[in-house]
Parts: sequence; structure tokens; C-alpha cells
Amino acid sequence: MCEYCGCQAIESIRQLTDEHDLVVDLIGEVLSAHRAGDRDRMSALACRIATVLGPHTAVEEKGLFPAIAGDFPDHIEALVHEHRLIEAALAEAAEAVEAEGEERLLDALAVLRQHILAEQDGVFPAALATLATAQWEAIEGVRAQAGSALRGPPSAA
Ligand SMILES: [Fe+2]
Repeated sequence: MCEYCGCQAIESIRQLTDEHDLVVDLIGEVLSAHRAGDRDRMSALACRIATVLGPHTAVEEKGLFPAIAGDFPDHIEALVHEHRLIEAALAEAAEAVEAEGEERLLDALAVLRQHILAEQDGVFPAALATLATAQWEAIEGVRAQAGSALRGPPSAA
């Protein structure tokens, strides 16, 4: 890993972006399952989304967000609040999606899609433009602890 070329920044953001892409694909599958009336599949997919978002959210909240919160405190606070709402909805849906719970899940996934766009178009470019090498190293450290659903569980520390 080199110090000056920005590759740490690019790799950190690439992983977060790949996780977003996977989540967007999974949201599409939830909508397909919804159209097919398959609530069991909706529930299984909610569980998969939660699995992808677990380490992803840790990297954002313990690594990326603190690094830029000084510049955008209200924006970051709103994103963290959305994380909690989305987590709660996914946890409920992962247990089971009952008929009366379908809209709650779909509403949360609509929030999640907008949330992902807000991060991609706002937080990530801001971070790439402003963070220093040491801050990217700290974010890498959080990622090493958190692991990623894209590449299996974290290696033993
Ligand atoms: Fe994210």
C-alpha cells in the first residue's frame, strides 16, 4: 500500500461502493419478490441486505463519518439516523414479512435507495477530496476489523 497515490482512498471507497451496488441489486430482488407475492423471499433478502450493511455501516460510522463530520455535522447526523431506521426495518423483516409489514419494508428500502445516492453523490466525493492519508489508514483499520460481506468474515485479529 503506497502513501501518496491515493490508492487507500480509492480502495476504501470502492468497497463501500461495491456494497452499495450489491444492496441496490438486492432491493430490486425484494421488489420482484413483492410483485410475486413471495413474502418469505422478501424476508430472506432483507436478511441478506442486513448482512451486507453490517460491516458497511461500521466502516461508515466508525471510520468515514467521523473523519468528515466536522464539515457536515447535520448531514452526517441525518445519515446515522437513517441507518438506525433502516436497520430496525430490516431486522423486523428478516424475522418475517407479514402482510401488514410489507409496506414498512418497502418504505425503508425506498429510504435506503435515497440514502445510498446521498452517500455516493455527497459523502464519498467529499471524503475523496478532503481526507488525508492518515484518515484513510484509520478507515482501513475499521474495515479490517469489520470485514465485508463481499469477501467473507473478517480475518482473525
Ligand atoms: Fe453506505
